[in-house]
Amino acid sequence: MNSAHPAVVIADPTPLVPCHVAVIMDGNGRWAKQRGRPRTAGHREGVKSVRAVVEASAKRGVRTLTLFAFSSENWQRPRSEVNILMELFMSALRGEVRRLNENDVRLRVIGDRSAFPERLQQRIHEAEELTGENTRLNLQVAANYGGRWDLTHAARRLAEDVQRGVLDPGAIDEQMLTSHLSFPDLPDPDLLIRTGGEQRLSNFVLWQSAYSELYFTDVLWPDFDAAAYHQALDDFARRQRRYGKLGEQVETTSHASARGRV
Ligand code: IPE
Ligand code: IPE
Ligand code: MG
Repeated sequence: MNSAHPAVVIADPTPLVPCHVAVIMDGNGRWAKQRGRPRTAGHREGVKSVRAVVEASAKRGVRTLTLFAFSSENWQRPRSEVNILMELFMSALRGEVRRLNENDVRLRVIGDRSAFPERLQQRIHEAEELTGENTRLNLQVAANYGGRWDLTHAARRLAEDVQRGVLDPGAIDEQMLTSHLSFPDLPDPDLLIRTGGEQRLSNFVLWQSAYSELYFTDVLWPDFDAAAYHQALDDFARRQRRYGKLGEQVETTSHASARGRV
């Protein structure tokens, strides 16, 4: 190794590929409306984008992909739309799980599933069992998920432990709270993408997105294809993540050269 040009960097502050990508899949209704079709046509079309992004994630080396499919607030939509979303979820599980399993994808559903129809809960359970040992990609589908629900649920569990006398409130730290949230075993999202033009989190991963890089695009979810996804990943690779430090504290040789490669 040439000491004038150190090539080895122990911790690259900006790995080129995000370990965990989270996506707010928004814009299905508007996509359909633009074509004079019912909103549900947009939801159906959106399944194709899910396939494209799952496939591209596995190819590009993303280890975890979390997709926001249905929020805890989406129950407030018209009953007919909610019903169709539930049916679509059922049929997507039926149609996709075998292929996901063949492609070594582990599927997990996060959110309060107790509100779902019994049959759907059963199907989710079966899909998680079938794919539980897969390792190529962790695919998390957030359904009846809300960031506030996640935090409230964690707070309740901690309070129960205190009440049972097995936890000292003074021992509660950030790590312990994290360990009671929906995906304690996985890293926080590095990149959070929202399609459909809105620039808000809509109660998605609130705690876990503290240091996520945010990427907003006007592309509507059914139009979000592999190329659009690669554009978001390329944008991420040009970011500098500082976590409160100064730019020069995190800047490294490999970082600069990595940027040059993008
Ligand atoms: C996102 O698309 C899908 C869900 C929230 C289930 P929308 O249905 O919100 O589509 P827009 O935002 O109305 O276009
Ligand atoms: C966020 O989209 C939820 C999902 C994509 C599942 P919404 O369409 O529900 O968000 P708002 O209502 O515009 O904030
Ligand atoms: Mg929307």
